[in-house]
Amino acid sequence: MIDFKNELNPEQCAAATSDGGPMLVLAAAGTGKTRTLVHRVAYLIENGVPAERILLLTFTNRAAREMTERAEALIGSGVGGIWSGTFHSICAKFLRRYGSFLGYKPGFSIIDEDDQK
Ligand SMILES: Nc1ncnc2c1ncn2[C@@H]1O[C@H](COP(=O)(O)OP(=O)(O)OP(=O)(O)O)[C@@H](O)[C@H]1O
Ligand SMILES: [Mg+2]
Repeated sequence: MIDFKNELNPEQCAAATSDGGPMLVLAAAGTGKTRTLVHRVAYLIENGVPAERILLLTFTNRAAREMTERAEALIGSGVGGIWSGTFHSICAKFLRRYGSFLGYKPGFSIIDEDDQK
């Protein structure tokens, strides 16, 4: 069990352990956003939310890698089935899995604007 009150400041703790619905948390660079997010994931998993029902998204590959690694370091193997990555990579996975409903073949390829020309 993680001691959320001890590991986070009061604002981080409130965000990580909220039982409410949608929430917007704004914080400046280096103030502990990723720490709050990975503790949020730990809180959800500790409270019985299946890992595969959790979606973690961010913009850059580097930030996605850091977020995923820090979640793994905090939570361990329980983080296994989580969806974590960049908006682009996770959306591409959704399309591979469910794109047939939109008429895409599973082996579709994505080409950038230069390649299209
Ligand atoms: N409440 C806290 N107690 C101890 N260490 C903390 C706390 N909050 C943040 N830190 C530490 O401060 C550093 C920066 O935190 P973190 O990487 O989560 O911030 P961030 O807002 O995601 O940063 P960035 O804007 O660079 O993405 C990390 O080493 C983190 O573990
Ligand atoms: Mg961060």
